[in-house]
Amino acid sequence: MPHAVLNVDKHISDIFGEYDFFVSSDKSVFLYPVELESEAFFLRLIQKKEKLIVKLEKSTMPKITSSVKEFMYNFSFELRERLNGKITNHNLNITRKTDYSLFDRYEIKTSDINKSEWINNLCKNKKINLEIGMGSGEFITEEALKNKNESFIGVEILNSDFYIALRRFNSANLNNAKAVYYDARAILNRFKPNSIKRVYLNFPEPWFKQKKIKHSVLTQKTAKKIETLLEVGGEFVIMTDNYPFAVSSALIIEQSTLLKSSFKHSMFLSDTSIKTKYEKKWKNYKRTIYKLVYKKHFKQEKSYKNIIHFPIKIKEMDTVGKEYVFRILNRYTNKDSKTIIEITAGYSKNPQHVFFELKEDKIYTIPQSNFVANNDFLCAVLL
Ligand SMILES: C[S@@+](CC[C@H](N)C(=O)[O-])C[C@H]1O[C@@H](n2cnc3c(N)ncnc32)[C@H](O)[C@@H]1O
Repeated sequence: MPHAVLNVDKHISDIFGEYDFFVSSDKSVFLYPVELESEAFFLRLIQKKEKLIVKLEKSTMPKITSSVKEFMYNFSFELRERLNGKITNHNLNITRKTDYSLFDRYEIKTSDINKSEWINNLCKNKKINLEIGMGSGEFITEEALKNKNESFIGVEILNSDFYIALRRFNSANLNNAKAVYYDARAILNRFKPNSIKRVYLNFPEPWFKQKKIKHSVLTQKTAKKIETLLEVGGEFVIMTDNYPFAVSSALIIEQSTLLKSSFKHSMFLSDTSIKTKYEKKWKNYKRTIYKLVYKKHFKQEKSYKNIIHFPIKIKEMDTVGKEYVFRILNRYTNKDSKTIIEITAGYSKNPQHVFFELKEDKIYTIPQSNFVANNDFLCAVLL
């Protein structure tokens, strides 16, 4: 994550009035709002004695481009001058300039996802395929080249891989692929029910470490969402080198959905090669590759209308239910007494972390409000 560490003589609060800083109620964290290219985010500044850390605020994370790094470097340099110190450490060197035209051509922005019917506008009448955790996009590029009359959407949470995938789409001059830079778990129920031909999950993050299980993409909840968005006859395809993951995936799908294995055995040895980075890696290690293919046989009638209208009147600031949570984690004010709140809201095991402006008892979106208005989020707000 891009950051700079400074050693300074003065305290950041000494220059509070000169910048549009927001400070947390306990005065320990400063947020600096930035709008750059088409991204809006916060820099998070934390000072302990002489040590000042400047980094990106995670929940407003922009795509890490050359101009984000350049901006952070210049800002840290300015702080160094103002606070009388020096930059002791940073990782803001620019190795390669970002090509912004790739985002215009291939990215689906979070704000588009929040609009209703976005998927229809995007894919017109083409069949849609979705890859969760596309990595650097090898699989989707190959499939999009082979099936020009279908659409492909890749979702990826990792900045560097996302950008490599866009470059790959561009080198192949694809006109039928798009990508979303976000947590797939939050966007799955923004797709229209019965609308996707295939959902692919190729070599998802190894999860066998206990603490990683809760971050796994495939849970009973996501399996149900995948079932809903598949069209009748549509398939959910999983490839993995991890035997326990293959077994647990089969169990999760069979226990929580009506999807049926397309083959006699739910797990079988893959005879096809998809030549992604991870497939190559595990094949080099001589690992066995398992494949699971589950088909949808019944149509599901489920409305996906869940548009949220802002401002929202908030009756209670902190509510934790059995399934959903809406909790204020922090409040920040600037020199004009404008208040920003940092909330966590959504399904309790996978809530979204979002910033809003708070005026009296209403919350308003700000350019840094980065979230997906899905059912979980709506349920949390209703709660
Ligand atoms: C092991 S890699 C596999 C990448 C690629 N499918 C391949 O076969 O080479 C898993 C990928 O899933 C992405 N990922 C993990 N959790 C995710 C989530 N919740 N939403 C979107 N992407 C996710 C990771 O960032 C990583 O790029």
